[in-house]
Amino acid sequence: MENSALSLSRFAPQYDRSRLVTRCVHLGFGAFHRAHQAVYADILATDHHSDWGYCEVNLIGGEQQIADLNRQDRLYTVAEMSAEGWTTRVVGVATQALHAQVDGLDAVLTALCQPKVAIVSLTITEKGYCHSPATGELMREHPMIAADLARPEQPKTAVGVIVAALARRKAAGLRGFSVMSCDNMPENGHVTRNVVLAYAHAVDAALAQWIEGEVTFPSTMVDRIVPAVTPETLQRIADLTGIDDPVAVACEPFRQWVIEDNFVAGRPEWEKAGAELVTDVLPFEEMKLRMLNGSHSFLAYLGYLAGYPLINICMEDQNFRAAARALMLNEQAPTLKVKGVDLSRYADSLIARYENTALAHRTWQIAMDGSQKLPQRMLDSIRWHLAKGSNWPLLALGVAGWMRYVDGVDEQGNAIEISDPLKADIAAKVAQSEQGTARVQALLSLTAIFGDDLPGNPVFVEGVMQAYRVLLEKGAKAAIAQYAAAL
Ligand SMILES: NC(=O)c1ccc[n+]([C@@H]2O[C@H](COP(=O)([O-])OP(=O)(O)OC[C@H]3O[C@@H](n4cnc5c(N)ncnc54)[C@H](O)[C@@H]3O)[C@@H](O)[C@H]2O)c1
Repeated sequence: MENSALSLSRFAPQYDRSRLVTRCVHLGFGAFHRAHQAVYADILATDHHSDWGYCEVNLIGGEQQIADLNRQDRLYTVAEMSAEGWTTRVVGVATQALHAQVDGLDAVLTALCQPKVAIVSLTITEKGYCHSPATGELMREHPMIAADLARPEQPKTAVGVIVAALARRKAAGLRGFSVMSCDNMPENGHVTRNVVLAYAHAVDAALAQWIEGEVTFPSTMVDRIVPAVTPETLQRIADLTGIDDPVAVACEPFRQWVIEDNFVAGRPEWEKAGAELVTDVLPFEEMKLRMLNGSHSFLAYLGYLAGYPLINICMEDQNFRAAARALMLNEQAPTLKVKGVDLSRYADSLIARYENTALAHRTWQIAMDGSQKLPQRMLDSIRWHLAKGSNWPLLALGVAGWMRYVDGVDEQGNAIEISDPLKADIAAKVAQSEQGTARVQALLSLTAIFGDDLPGNPVFVEGVMQAYRVLLEKGAKAAIAQYAAAL
């Protein structure tokens, strides 16, 4: 096997990489960005002479990926995997790669203050915004935000770093840039704007005012399933290419990107690589968050409890398949505003993507950070049903699945490794309550997840209680079978 540093350049893109200009800085060089936004930029550079390059930045975690990327001349492999076979491309659009804690904050701020930087994009996971998922507002009491506000010139959070960079740009007489979230949140542009402006106001009101005039926050809907990279994935890619590439990533062939066309200093011609530029992303975001991400979370909690480690294994259980499709079409689709999309075909295409045996998408991975995901994936739809008086049995089962999952012990008595920014609060509620009604009541009191409205709504509480009781009594597999039989 060849070493990546020497060998990837043999497969390097055909375009002249020296022409690339750092016009985008991306915060969060994780698996998703590598296989999504960077691939769009690579297609544009390859097929349309685009010179839009990326400075790739990690702020928290991912030190090794930045070091590895630099070591291999900022080239890496993206594999598209389907049951029929895998294809690879070497992506070359990274012009720089930095880690705030390795290269220093100043290097990151300098990169963000390059005059030609027009777009700062983010995939920092939902919890990286330090907002309340229930309200979308910045949590000023979040320990990292509180620390950044105490020393705004030495920020660690993405919000703090963006505001510090904008302060420097203002002081240097430079223009602003657009900040584009590519994380899975409804109105991700609005959430980003809220947290950036709230933080900036707390630092300097004049700066906040300047940001309001100089910076836009386009929303996006992003879609491509990119499972966490495993040693097996890297080995499979190495077997295909003959090169060990530790930055490689594998994803499904499908990709979609809907972008609000609202940029202050220009943008790549993403539409030439298949993206849709629109005036309002919200209907598309809602569709994807509720139908895809909502059913993914449903399968993740109930599938994990049933002993199914992967989404495609859930799909082999006819009852899980039927329940996931019914959740999408009976309980999520009616809540959507999107027009002109055949939602039945969309649901079928999602089920077909979940069946991809090559993806090996772990239920445990999707189950992570549930506190940040439940509101937009399930609870907003439940609010819609409560207002209309319509039924939502599968959404109730999904919420109950999360509650049963965060008990921390699976149906075989094995410990579940819970990964969630609210893990301590959740664990305290679990420790204080008996499994059953008391457990449901205790978890519902987490207002950062359930808001102030849902815990006081008797229809909501009874719906979740009932589903939780079925789940406890029968276990996940039989519970899903019972719900599927009733469809
Ligand atoms: N993987 C997918 O299939 C997929 C699909 C659509 C959208 N997304 C979105 O992309 C996000 C990232 O997914 P991924 O697969 O790249 O995950 P990943 O674990 O590979 O990468 C996470 C990235 O976020 C950064 N990060 C984590 N916590 C942070 C914090 N508190 N502040 C700043 N940076 C932080 C890490 O440095 C890393 O670069 C998801 O949370 C989701 O919102 C992912």
